[in-house]
Amino acid sequence: MSTGKADLSIKVLLIGDSGVGKSSLLLSFTSGAFDEDINATIGIDFRVKKVEVLDAHLGQRKQLSMQLWDTAGQERFRTLTSSYYRGANAVVLVYDVNEPQTFTGLQEWLEEANAYCRSERDEDSVIYLLIGNKVDRCPMEGDMAVSKATAQSFAKQHAMLFALTSAKTQVGVAQAFDEVARNVFDKLSEMESMQRGRGTTLRDEDLNSGGGGCC
Ligand code: GTP
Ligand code: MG
Repeated sequence: MSTGKADLSIKVLLIGDSGVGKSSLLLSFTSGAFDEDINATIGIDFRVKKVEVLDAHLGQRKQLSMQLWDTAGQERFRTLTSSYYRGANAVVLVYDVNEPQTFTGLQEWLEEANAYCRSERDEDSVIYLLIGNKVDRCPMEGDMAVSKATAQSFAKQHAMLFALTSAKTQVGVAQAFDEVARNVFDKLSEMESMQRGRGTTLRDEDLNSGGGGCC
């Protein structure tokens, strides 16, 4: 992976109940590491990862810098305000496939994210991804306490991408975040073309300042 300047910077938020593995997913994605004794997040944590996406129109590879915002799931640390969501290009909702209450708990997280990120004006400018984590604890798909079909249907109902992952074995992790990056890039490119059609052009600085993000 090149260390040069990225063509575009995007903001991605992770939300979900405490213990589902948000920080572990970011550790896995950015460092390929896993820590059984990882500390619960206090307040907000932040990681950056560069990825490449294909610009289908230009046939070129583009470097994206993913600014990954990790939040505390514990109620007592929850001081999230609209500022946390401001400029977000993607929201990742995480649950633990072995803990059904973390799946039902997503409804509240989704309502909060929708309140800040999905206005009537730009209904689908923010990409949503649902992640069912800790699949390493389920040798068989049927072992999941939250079935894949149930989660898929929830994702479809709320227009979210869906992935099953293990931060421990890294299964599905890079693919999930790469898909987010690709979808955000495509969305921003689409919005740029629309702007062009109206006679205005979004420049890279516009995109870098979170153009198309929420709030
Ligand atoms: P908060 O920061 O409190 O919101 O929690 P979190 O969602 O960031 O969870 P965290 O990453 O701290 O992980 C909680 C526990 O689950 C830790 O003991 C991790 O090692 C463990 N864990 C996380 N992901 C996985 C996974 O994919 N498989 C297994 N077996 N354990 C995991
Ligand atoms: Mg955490």
